[in-house]
This record gives sequence, structure tokens and C-alpha cells, in this order.
Amino acid sequence: MDPADMGDDLERVLLSEEQLHQRLDEIAAQIDADYAGKDLLLVGVLKGAVMVMADLARRLHSTVQMDWMAVSSYGSGTKSSGVVRILKDLDADLTGRHVLIVEDIIDSGLTLSWLLSNLRSRGPATVEIATMLRKPEASKVDVDVRYVGFDIPNEFVVGYGLDYAEKYRNLPFVGTLAPHVYGA
Ligand code: IMP
Ligand code: MG
Repeated sequence: MDPADMGDDLERVLLSEEQLHQRLDEIAAQIDADYAGKDLLLVGVLKGAVMVMADLARRLHSTVQMDWMAVSSYGSGTKSSGVVRILKDLDADLTGRHVLIVEDIIDSGLTLSWLLSNLRSRGPATVEIATMLRKPEASKVDVDVRYVGFDIPNEFVVGYGLDYAEKYRNLPFVGTLAPHVYGA
């Protein structure tokens, strides 16, 4: 899909496909350097992280393992509460592993801080976080994010894995939606 396919549902493109890919080149190079000589396990959080996981993993110069987790955060509407339920757990045993959580976006950071302590309790050697996008709210929780693609304004965005009502995940860019899409 390209912006034109969106018609008047698209308000504006926030990050183009080229911008996302260029930034991923840089992050992949950092990860390659940081984990040189180590076995790395990438943990993607379904469903939003599918695109960043696929594009990031293919840029790395060493073989990695990839595993997936699905969590659901209890909350009303678009705000998460930090109370999390595991819908699909990892297949991998984390004991002694170098784990890198791959996320699409960090908003309140509540989901991620829960996930972090959950994974840390499983005896990994290290756990770090890579996220494609980060919103300003995320600075309020004490979660150290090692790799950040872009800090974005506090707006609801879709594309590159992110949805609104399960739509728009397959946009190769990140954008905002016109108000009429939300029924405004
Ligand atoms: P939080 O960091 O616990 O608030 O929750 C982050 C999750 O909320 C992300 O993994 C997304 O699924 C969802 N989310 C937060 N902001 C957006 C957005 O702008 N667009 C789409 N989903 C979002
Ligand atoms: Mg997510």
C-alpha cells in the first residue's frame, strides 16, 4: 500500500517507508556491534511488532532466534492499565539467554514494564528493549529502552504493524488518520 491507496482516510504521513528503513539500518548496526559473539533471542510482541521484527531481523549480520509473545492489557479503550494477561507464551527457555524485546510502540510503557519483569524472572543473562516508536508518556515509567527508532508526538498513529480496530497494520509507513475514520 502507498499513501494514495488510503484516499482521504489518511491525515498525514508521519514517517515514510524510507525513513523507517534507514533508521532500522542504524539500529541493526548497533545491535550487531553490541551483541558481537553472543547468541541473541529476539522476542516480538504480537501483533504490532511483526513488521519491525521482520525488517530488523533481516538487517542483522548474525543468526538470531526469533520467538513471539501475545499479551493483552486490561484497560478501557485506548489506554492500557498495566494489568496484563499472557495469550501466547514463548516457546524458548530464557535461562542464560541474551533477550531483546522487539516492540512496535511504547505509549504509557505499562505493558512493557510488566513484560520486562515477567521475562527477567525467567533467568535470562540480559533483557533489553528495542522499539520502533516511543511516545512522550513513556518517559514517566522507569523503563530503560536501549534502542528507539523515533520519538513521536502524542498522537494516535497507524501503520507498520500498528492498527486502529485491527486495520491499517499493513501500511509500510506510519501515519495519522483523518477524524472521520474515528466517526468524528
Ligand atoms: P502501553 O505502552 O502499555 O500504553 O501500550 C502500548 C500498546 O498500546 C502498543 O503495543 C500498541 O498496541 C498500543 N498503542 C499505543 N499507542 C498506539 C498508537 O498510536 N497506535 C496504535 N496502537 C497504539
Ligand atoms: Mg505492542
